[in-house]
Amino acid sequence: MGSLRFVTAGESHGPELTGILEGMPAGVEVTVEEIEADLLRRMMGYGRGARMKIETDRVKIKSGVRAGSTLGSPITLTIENKDWENWIDIMDSAPDIEPNPRRRRVVRPRPGHADLTGSMKYDFLDARNVLERASARETAVRVAVGAVCRKFLGLFGIEIGSHIVAIGSVKAQSILDLPVGLNESADRSEVRCLDDDASKRMIEEIDRAKSNGDTLGGVAEIVVRGAMIGLGSHVSWDRKLDARLAQALMSIPAVKGVEIGMGFEAAYKLGSETHDEMLPGGTPHTGGVIRPTNRAGGLEGGITNGMPIVLRAAMKPIATLMKPLKTVNFETGEPANAQSERSDVTAVPAMGVIAEAMAAIVVANAVLEKFGADTTKDILKAVDGYLRRIEERWESAGQTSDT
Ligand SMILES: Cc1cc2nc3c(=O)[nH]c(=O)nc-3n(C[C@H](O)[C@H](O)[C@H](O)COP(=O)(O)O)c2cc1C
Repeated sequence: MGSLRFVTAGESHGPELTGILEGMPAGVEVTVEEIEADLLRRMMGYGRGARMKIETDRVKIKSGVRAGSTLGSPITLTIENKDWENWIDIMDSAPDIEPNPRRRRVVRPRPGHADLTGSMKYDFLDARNVLERASARETAVRVAVGAVCRKFLGLFGIEIGSHIVAIGSVKAQSILDLPVGLNESADRSEVRCLDDDASKRMIEEIDRAKSNGDTLGGVAEIVVRGAMIGLGSHVSWDRKLDARLAQALMSIPAVKGVEIGMGFEAAYKLGSETHDEMLPGGTPHTGGVIRPTNRAGGLEGGITNGMPIVLRAAMKPIATLMKPLKTVNFETGEPANAQSERSDVTAVPAMGVIAEAMAAIVVANAVLEKFGADTTKDILKAVDGYLRRIEERWESAGQTSDT
């Protein structure tokens, strides 16, 4: 497996979030502004709650980067929570002087959130101990880590974008030829959807859900372009790149389904309608063949085949409803209405951006696994040598068949 590792720390209303990325080689140029551009994209999207309005995420690079370039040492990124001042007495790490419970205790677990499962497992009397960490606030620092990986991938011409294909019952029209600047196009829509008519209907659906005190889920499509053939491996279950991408996307809070290429649809089709035929004449990047279709979504045998990697992540509706669902108060054992606190109506557009970051981390790791070295210069040379090897192989195949 690749040498890239990352860990995040921090509670939703704690002082800050921290991410440590280890294994990034030296020589990747990255700036605070580039990371913040992705953080801003995560905060966009129609249907977000009040918090997105009070915070503009700012990142600090605290280690691993000097003079705009990575050093090969662990990279520490932090994002302050601007609201911390208002939460000190609730979230402070110091022991309580008074035996009184802290303000804003949560004892009415929300169906669909981690409140009950986490509180029972960790024996907490206050579900805030769980929800502060289960909250998707943590994904802000994943996006920051992903932004560094995205810069690394850019050295090889690998680009990652996403767009929203469904929110609630509104589905966007499927587009065969996605625009080259996928994110630039998607970010123009408030719901990050390329279909203008569907965008409008998605916004209406969000407004309707909001006025009913309800919430919505949806589907994001993530596209990785420019990945060369040969990332990942068929040899062991935990080296398969399709499996690793699925895990990474599934780890995003509220994501409950992941599809690759045709995904579930392939189960209902014939083999002749599903697999991507090969024609002679491709580039070393695509293994020396041309594929008129990309139904596999760029992955065969857990290995990239040089076609765009196409992933879809399905997000369930947000668990915090303003018209709360029934629950049981775990302090009294009595029936109750679930906890309602400041919340998003939908966060599908943001989820797409987080999924891009997770895909960037996994693909960067796969590149390092195959070509890993201490500096980007050595890695670029290794990629060159590999692609030349594939080219030479096809040249000699041609010669053999001619004679
Ligand atoms: C970008 C994003 C924002 C989210 N915002 C909220 C929110 O405001 N309220 C909420 O209840 N859940 C929100 N969620 C979902 C919860 O974090 C998630 O449902 C919860 O942690 C339980 O995990 P699970 O759904 O994966 O089982 C959000 C998820 C994402 C990806």
